[in-house]
Amino acid sequence: MPGSVVLLGGEPGIGKSTLLLQLAGALAARSGPVLYISGEESPGQVALRARRLGIDQPALYFLAEQDLHAVLGAVERLAPTALVVDSLQTMRARADGPDIGSVPQVRESAAILAHLAKGAGLVCLLVSHITKGGDFAGPKTVEHLVDAAIYLEGTRDGQLRILRSMKNRFGATDEVAVYQMGVQGLTEVANPSTLFLSSGTPGPGASIVPVLEGSRTLLVEIQALVTPASGYGPPQRRTAGLELNRVLVLLAVMEKHLGLTLGMQDCYLATAGGIEVREPAADLGACAALLSSVRARALPEGTVVFGEVGLSGDIRPVRRAPERLREVAKLGFDRAILPVQPLRGKLSLEVIQVKGIEEVAEQLGLS
Ligand SMILES: Nc1ncnc2c1ncn2[C@@H]1O[C@H](COP(=O)(O)OP(=O)(O)O)[C@@H](O)[C@H]1O
Ligand SMILES: [Mg+2]
Repeated sequence: MPGSVVLLGGEPGIGKSTLLLQLAGALAARSGPVLYISGEESPGQVALRARRLGIDQPALYFLAEQDLHAVLGAVERLAPTALVVDSLQTMRARADGPDIGSVPQVRESAAILAHLAKGAGLVCLLVSHITKGGDFAGPKTVEHLVDAAIYLEGTRDGQLRILRSMKNRFGATDEVAVYQMGVQGLTEVANPSTLFLSSGTPGPGASIVPVLEGSRTLLVEIQALVTPASGYGPPQRRTAGLELNRVLVLLAVMEKHLGLTLGMQDCYLATAGGIEVREPAADLGACAALLSSVRARALPEGTVVFGEVGLSGDIRPVRRAPERLREVAKLGFDRAILPVQPLRGKLSLEVIQVKGIEEVAEQLGLS
């Protein structure tokens, strides 16, 4: 949108500059001059990247600059339709101000750029690094100043990137796009539904959950390993891609309602491909994977499980179940275990609706 300010956050090295250079090239081809400012890379470095990505666009201008006022001067001279600032943390709004990258410098730079964008009807794309150390002012310090905040995340798999909108004044939030990183930059994965399944038939300790990401349904494999603890120190509880605190609650529910004793067991849980799953609907998938590992028996083939698990072992309804089922059926699964909730329309797979976690164990042949 003309006059809009978009923040692109992500960890260093994830691909923010790559994505924005690709975007800048495409915008320049379509809508006229685009100015790309880098406060961290030299013209030579960026030119090299542009060449590798196959961007050869006369309407794309580059300037290596950290002084925000020099940036403003360049914008005035060129009058671009879009401005990329890579990154906010390397811009200096006030020469006599605090350290570059500090909260006041970053905030003031973002505020000045937002003002410029609104006044000139210019699209402003701002890069912000997420750093673990917290010595830099991260994207959260400026989120309130921008119209849209978008984050680029990686998965442990290495090649996959997920672009997620967290705030969007012009459209839906929580939308995702999935990309593959390669020599030619980021290319969109058109059909990511099955990207987060491991190849082959899932063995003991694995379950498959249809997870909603924006308007998409992704099938995600959850893998669990329950194994006797060493006996030295407390048993291990580790997760990757799932929230540890949530998993601790699920373990307690399983002990209480399935009569398991896990106090002397190490429990590990991970999502295939390392995708972050933050949905209550994945609760039941995590429980099924754990139970399958405890029993050392695989889940029935072609089965997906989803549902929120309550503290009393009850299985609670989740949003948009029919959509999940349609996608699951389309991908060839023939059975779904899910909460008792209304499902409109005809579905071409077997649907088993369950009220409690004991019932799930029974249906999966794992009681
Ligand atoms: N020649 C290459 N082939 C494939 N991928 C590359 C190549 N060079 C860089 N990359 C990828 O690009 C990433 C760096 O992207 P970059 O846009 O500079 O990240 P950011 O700006 O977020 O720090 C690297 O981590 C790597 O995954
Ligand atoms: Mg960069």
